Amino acid sequence: MSRMNLRISLILSLVLIALPRAFAQTPAQIKSNEEQIRQVMITMSRQLGVTCNTCHLTENFKSDKKEMFKVAKEHMRLTQLLIDSGMDGKKTPKADCYLCHRGKLQPDYKEKISPLIK
Ligand code: HEC
Ligand code: HEC
Repeated sequence: MSRMNLRISLILSLVLIALPRAFAQTPAQIKSNEEQIRQVMITMSRQLGVTCNTCHLTENFKSDKKEMFKVAKEHMRLTQLLIDSGMDGKKTPKADCYLCHRGKLQPDYKEKISPLIK
């Protein structure tokens, strides 16, 4: 085999090895992203004590028609802000929905009036 042919066949075999892997990985990666989103959503639902359809029209998970979806999106940003500001689980607890919501859609965010002070 000539030098040139050797080089071409080397490149070709590299492509043949690399390509199927690239193609095999793409759907798997998509699947793992979907799985990650699903896990986040399951956790979020649990932390608020709700089910998927509190925020979603289940025929289209991308839709933002529901008011709860919009608030949730805001609060996801808020939670990320807390994490980025240092509540990242290293020296403090990591911020999540449960931090405020405690398993309820409407958290008790106002101090309860003590029954002793009527
Ligand atoms: C408290 C509200 C809330 C609950 C409950 C909730 N989601 Fe979501 N979900 C959202 C918001 C907000 C987004 C958009 C996030 C973004 O755009 O960053 C989203 C995004 C998604 C997406 C991605 C949609 C896309 O853009 O492709 C899927 C899929 C999804 N949710 C599924 C679920 C499932 C399944 C459940 C129940 C286990 C669930 N969600 C529960 C608010 C919620
Ligand atoms: C820093 C505290 C805090 C964090 C963290 C937080 N929330 Fe909230 N959330 C609140 C408070 C307080 C309310 C009630 C506001 C009100 O009643 O006006 C609320 C209300 C909501 C509501 C509307 C409930 C209703 O009945 O109108 C949704 C939906 C929601 N939060 C989703 C989320 C999600 C999802 C997360 C996590 C990604 C999250 N929140 C994290 C404090 C927080």
